[in-house]
Amino acid sequence: METSRKWHELDKQYPEAEYLTEGIVRLIFTLDATEDGKTEVSAKYSVRRNIGTPKNAPLVLDLASEVNILSVTINGKKLLPSEYERTGEAIIIPNVPDGVFKVAAKVLIDPKNNGTGEGMYAAGDMLLTQNEPEGLRKIFPYFDCPKVMAPFRTTIIGNKEKYPVMLSNGNLFDYHEKIGLTNGNRIHWITYDLPFAIPSYLFALVAGKLEVLKSTYATKSGRTIDLEIYAEAKDIEKCHHAMESLKHAMAYDEEWYGYECDVDDYKIVATPYFNMGAMENKGLNIFNVSCVLASPETATDENYERVEGVIGHEYFHNYTGDKITNKDWRELGTKESITVRRDSLFSSDYRGWGLRKEISNALDMRARQFAEDASPRRHAIRPAEIKEPNNMYTMTVYEKGAEVYKTMEGIIGREGFLNGMKLYAKRHDGQATRIEDLIRCMEDANGVDLHQFRNWFTQSGTPTVSIVSEYDAKKKVLKLHIKQSCTMAPDRTEMEPFDIPFAIGLIGPSAVGEMAARTLRINKWEQTFEFDDIPFKPALSLNRNFAPVNVKYDYWDGELALLMARDNSLFARWDASQTYGAQVLLKLVEDVKAGRELVLDKAYSDAFGAVLRGAILCREGIDKNLLAEMMSLPGETTLANMSETVDPHAIHTARKFAYRELAKKYYLDFERLQKENCSDFDWEISFDPLSVAKRSVANTALGYLATCNNLFGANVFRQFDFSLGMSDKYTALSILVNGKNKPFFDEYADKALRMFYDQFKDDNNTVDKWFAVQAYSNEDGAIARVKELATHPAFDWNNPNRVRSLFGAFAYGSLQFHTGEGYRLFADFLAEYAPKNDIVASRMVEPLTDWKRYVPELQSLMKAELLRLKEELSKTDPAKVRGTMEKIEKSLAQ
Ligand code: BES
Ligand code: ZN
Repeated sequence: METSRKWHELDKQYPEAEYLTEGIVRLIFTLDATEDGKTEVSAKYSVRRNIGTPKNAPLVLDLASEVNILSVTINGKKLLPSEYERTGEAIIIPNVPDGVFKVAAKVLIDPKNNGTGEGMYAAGDMLLTQNEPEGLRKIFPYFDCPKVMAPFRTTIIGNKEKYPVMLSNGNLFDYHEKIGLTNGNRIHWITYDLPFAIPSYLFALVAGKLEVLKSTYATKSGRTIDLEIYAEAKDIEKCHHAMESLKHAMAYDEEWYGYECDVDDYKIVATPYFNMGAMENKGLNIFNVSCVLASPETATDENYERVEGVIGHEYFHNYTGDKITNKDWRELGTKESITVRRDSLFSSDYRGWGLRKEISNALDMRARQFAEDASPRRHAIRPAEIKEPNNMYTMTVYEKGAEVYKTMEGIIGREGFLNGMKLYAKRHDGQATRIEDLIRCMEDANGVDLHQFRNWFTQSGTPTVSIVSEYDAKKKVLKLHIKQSCTMAPDRTEMEPFDIPFAIGLIGPSAVGEMAARTLRINKWEQTFEFDDIPFKPALSLNRNFAPVNVKYDYWDGELALLMARDNSLFARWDASQTYGAQVLLKLVEDVKAGRELVLDKAYSDAFGAVLRGAILCREGIDKNLLAEMMSLPGETTLANMSETVDPHAIHTARKFAYRELAKKYYLDFERLQKENCSDFDWEISFDPLSVAKRSVANTALGYLATCNNLFGANVFRQFDFSLGMSDKYTALSILVNGKNKPFFDEYADKALRMFYDQFKDDNNTVDKWFAVQAYSNEDGAIARVKELATHPAFDWNNPNRVRSLFGAFAYGSLQFHTGEGYRLFADFLAEYAPKNDIVASRMVEPLTDWKRYVPELQSLMKAELLRLKEELSKTDPAKVRGTMEKIEKSLAQ
């Protein structure tokens, strides 16, 4: 992926498709058509040359090399092998008729031997598809690019006992069944008709033994939509939360954007075998079980929120994605950035998660997207070029893209944003568009010029906003001298300043409070803003809207404590607690490295204590989500991203020290907060913002209590054993496992792990948690444990969730990853796994590719393993490890 380019260079005319389809695409799938279980696919469609395409242009149909062609005909005439050419990714037909002509192809595919999670693949007893971005070419020859769109009609033929449920996009059109001639099996045919034109990547098919949960939704215009969620029989009772979430999502789209659901039948299928979280196939979403299933016994509060958010996200794609798609994969942000923004607003403002969601977005950005910007994977939301489209699904396109739309509200406001979205739907329904088209709608709906704002999409990197404040007490004037900067992109294209709406507040001494609040428009390299009539030297509440920038400002002593206690913006109050915490912790990290004695900064621990005391005193008065978040110290990843060179062991030691010091100093306060907020006396677990916030407070406090009192192991085990809900149970389990090697914890940890597995061994999502909680462990012995777990009967190389829950959790979460042995284990794993599933491996390789940020000892260890991994992978078929290799090579080229 290349990085920065000026907007006008990207704004050139896009190449149109050379050929287009005309009318419907007609598909027939015969499942298990051959004795060895292959599927036969017959595809027929009409094609015409696009205006502007030269007459002699060959017809290129995308087709992966593993597909076995039975026949290709043009206007009914079968092509001889000499009449077309087959390359790795396509068939090329040099001579095609003028006008409209018919293409018909018959192919054989082998879903049962496809473990890549792309194209059509078997998952347990099910057959499934995943075609975004370029999976359809693994199923039949077609135009596998989003700018070609067509309506589909799909027939599926299969054994009724084996595949009682057979689904595709669209409405039920026709159904037959009969006894097969040779073996007495019951065969059935089902045909679906999709009346909307879709690009290839939204085509989907599912077949298998599934139960269904049904409901309906009445739209604002009075249509009734049938809603169906398909899952394995044992999981069907866990689909209710997803169903409710879907209805909320439909209502939100109508109320906020005027978007009404256009399909009559909205289906969702849950599978344990899925590379991603979920996929928005038109009218037939396919979901990872981790993003659909929820019950109080098996799902944490975070899981509940994730289900609601992802159900929303995929539903919102029905408009921004399926009705209006992206022109090509460089333009992925056209549908993803805006849809993440829409799901974020759904969670925070429509469903009431408010601050909790805003903070979790900011945390995600700082821990992961800022790191991406600082890595060789740095790229613009809209890069000038891409290689492997599968590598476009990044924190930058998703999270940063969404934050940029949020930041845009600083110019056009919420109303303006919604008006822009309404115009977008009106202007582009049924089209493949670009980010440019959406921005233009924002401009036209609001009468503003967003020319400079476009730099957010085309320039890569995290801008830094540096602030110097100058207060004149006599004149009561405050001046803020502001500079913005951004490190040069790897391709060294010249940068222009970003257009940054930057919300600030000026906070006075206690009796005074907020003296001014304004959104500054930072859009030059250097600017000065003046505020008159400011009676006291203010504390600066900065970046209240969290524009995705780094803020540099030298806080005076006491300024952050004041903001933590009294900022009117709750987000900024939290942010001050994190800035202060990071400041103190990073100093401790230096002390650890220098071998100095560690002492926790007193002013900081007093400010921290004031938050706890304040919460205890005014009890119901405080936002408990805010409290839980302010009680949490900045995470190790966040601290790593703020370090010049990363020493994960020193960071861990420093943070652990501070955590224990706070626990000791405020033991009684934590105890009180834990008792007052825990759900010991609840009869059932409810998932509403207040209950969730209380659990967060109680469980955060529990963590502190357990670090400094070994006898507390018994209490934690009690919570593990008696809790009704998974949040409480999992927190307790994780505290016990991370307290291993501590007296009184060890036995409890082992016992809890055994009980947990026995109780939940039939629940996929919970078994994943069981693997993850052990792989995350920072304690010595974690590596041996990971190796042992890889041979556990429940470990399954074919299940991406399971693989992630063991090796992903280890690399992203365990301190033991950062050892020679840890890196080696991980590289060994990737060498084996990447050829099996390049898409998932390519996402997982990232921790190893970030070697350059680390202290020299670790750098060389990581780099050596990366080189070895590259060596191993170069022995396999390059087509099978393309995504992973692209990242490794980019990393080694630094
Ligand atoms: N369109 C994507 C699914 C996808 C991801 C397809 C990567 C191909 C490659 C879907 O809408 C999506 O974005 N899913 C996210 C979850 C979402 C809530 C951000 C995912 O799967 O992680
Ligand atoms: Zn998406």
